[in-house]
Amino acid sequence: MSKAVRYERFGGPEVLEVREIPEPHAAPDGVRVRVAAAGLNPMDWQITTQPDMAARFGITLPAGFGSDFAGVVDEVGPEATGFAVGDRVYGAAIGRSVAEFVLVKTPAADLWHTPEGIADEVAGTLPVASLTAAAALAAIGLRAGDTVLIGGAAGGVGIFAVQLAKRAGARVLGTASEGTFDFLRGLGAEPVAYGPGLADRVRDLAPEGITAAADLFGREAAETALKLGVAPERISVVADGPAPPPGVRKTGAVEAEPGSMERIADAVHSGEITVPIAATFPVDRIHEAVTTQAERHVHGKIVITL
Ligand SMILES: NC(=O)c1ccc[n+]([C@@H]2O[C@H](COP(=O)([O-])OP(=O)(O)OC[C@H]3O[C@@H](n4cnc5c(N)ncnc54)[C@H](OP(=O)(O)O)[C@@H]3O)[C@@H](O)[C@H]2O)c1
Repeated sequence: MSKAVRYERFGGPEVLEVREIPEPHAAPDGVRVRVAAAGLNPMDWQITTQPDMAARFGITLPAGFGSDFAGVVDEVGPEATGFAVGDRVYGAAIGRSVAEFVLVKTPAADLWHTPEGIADEVAGTLPVASLTAAAALAAIGLRAGDTVLIGGAAGGVGIFAVQLAKRAGARVLGTASEGTFDFLRGLGAEPVAYGPGLADRVRDLAPEGITAAADLFGREAAETALKLGVAPERISVVADGPAPPPGVRKTGAVEAEPGSMERIADAVHSGEITVPIAATFPVDRIHEAVTTQAERHVHGKIVITL
């Protein structure tokens, strides 16, 4: 038997149960990963609360939970390629990552070798959030010399977007609440409070104007950028919600350019990108982990250990 987070009806954190399920085994063309850590994303609990979102990802009840994971390959099917028993790996497996074992078919588009020196707790946060950040910046053609407004800059996606934008040579203004300003400064962003009056505050910080925006929380930063004269094609959003203003691109992790994951992992490995872990919870405290994340004031990533 093995442990896995499962749920049989849609709802809040209370529907999630840590279950003992029969131990799964690698398919002939697949590998089995013994998961050590799984990063949480809003999409994980949005799927458990929203049947229409679950349907979009092909998830039916009873279902597993979570997307990101990191661990060690401990079984390899006879026809599997690219991975060997003992390889440290991280990846994305939507609707089934918070479990002792995750099965992955090979060749695998969403499974990567973990660079030596990156802990599982960090590797297990990378795929969904960092690829979303990369896609949000690529969609607006972010380049050196830009002044970019990042909405929700201290969240799981924001921490990557801020640091990727700085590395690209941009000046970064990031929205957060005042208590988060020092945290954002530590990542290299100039903080600005979200909420009514945002356009005025951005104007005060950057009187010469902003040139691009990536809204990682909702629509406020995108609409503010439009109001400040940024061309719609230089604005992206990633969150579900109302249709973005005309010309503004909605993007997500699946649209990240090939090679993005490897480039980000290299930058994490070299220390150019840091991954703040806001909290780590053992899997038995899954309700607390999800509740903490769903409050939407996390700085960085929440990790579940198995
Ligand atoms: N399309 C995709 O592929 C994809 C993938 C990943 C994520 N997403 C979406 O991207 C969004 C962000 O994900 P995430 O993991 O970064 O979320 P998150 O970690 O939960 O974001 C938390 C951050 O949001 C900030 N925040 C709270 N209220 C805000 C407001 N009204 N305006 C601006 N910022 C606010 C908080 O700052 P304070 O603490 O200072 O309040 C906090 O740092 C979610 O909607 C998620 O579903 C999409």
